[in-house]
Amino acid sequence: MKIDIVTIFPEIAEGPLEASIIGRAVEAGRVSIRCHDLRDYTTDRHRQVDDEPYGGGPGMVMKPEPFFAAVADLKTEGAKVILMTPQGKPFRQARAVELAREEHLILLCGHYEGVDHRVVEALVDEEISIGDYVLTNGTLAAAVVVDAVVRLLPGVLGDERSAEVESFSGDGRRLEAPHYTRPAEFAGMAVPGVLMSGNHGAIAKWREERAVERTLANRPDLAGEG
Ligand code: ADE
Repeated sequence: MKIDIVTIFPEIAEGPLEASIIGRAVEAGRVSIRCHDLRDYTTDRHRQVDDEPYGGGPGMVMKPEPFFAAVADLKTEGAKVILMTPQGKPFRQARAVELAREEHLILLCGHYEGVDHRVVEALVDEEISIGDYVLTNGTLAAAVVVDAVVRLLPGVLGDERSAEVESFSGDGRRLEAPHYTRPAEFAGMAVPGVLMSGNHGAIAKWREERAVERTLANRPDLAGEG
């Protein structure tokens, strides 16, 4: 898979995507991730990427020309162009699974009040939001999407099962049960005895009950009670 991120702050995405599991996936050649400076696609002396909004109002709007030049330069046939914006569709695990099947993703990152809407109309296949809050720009959001997608690529996670049994996979309506590791007793708190019983049926039942409990407490919306 190939991923291009277009942003005025390439360094914000580069750091997180060079470390740990995603960094190793890049080194192993399972994915190529390139961060491009949007200003490299400007043609004026000041490398200007924003301007005042038509119709007035606060803040600046990102100009269309650099995005059009970037996509013309980077796009391959069948590439999916995504704009990171709080106005986008909420990003979910199911979407990460679908995006992991794509050959080439181009992630455009907004900044300021937004991006000239002709970018959305003419270039963008999909607008994605990573949650109902506003970041200073879309670059961290792009890194989040890339992390969620790349970890699903074949061979990226050491233990393939760990992507299968996690929260939001399957029907996506259940959080994971709590996990424990050694020591069996710590700071006066004991690991639930059933997990050390070796009784797989009882362990599965316990995990199921705790998962339901946790989902109702933290995400009643997932359980259909939000
Ligand atoms: N840019 C700013 N906030 C964002 C969000 N929540 N999701 C995606 N891009 C963003």
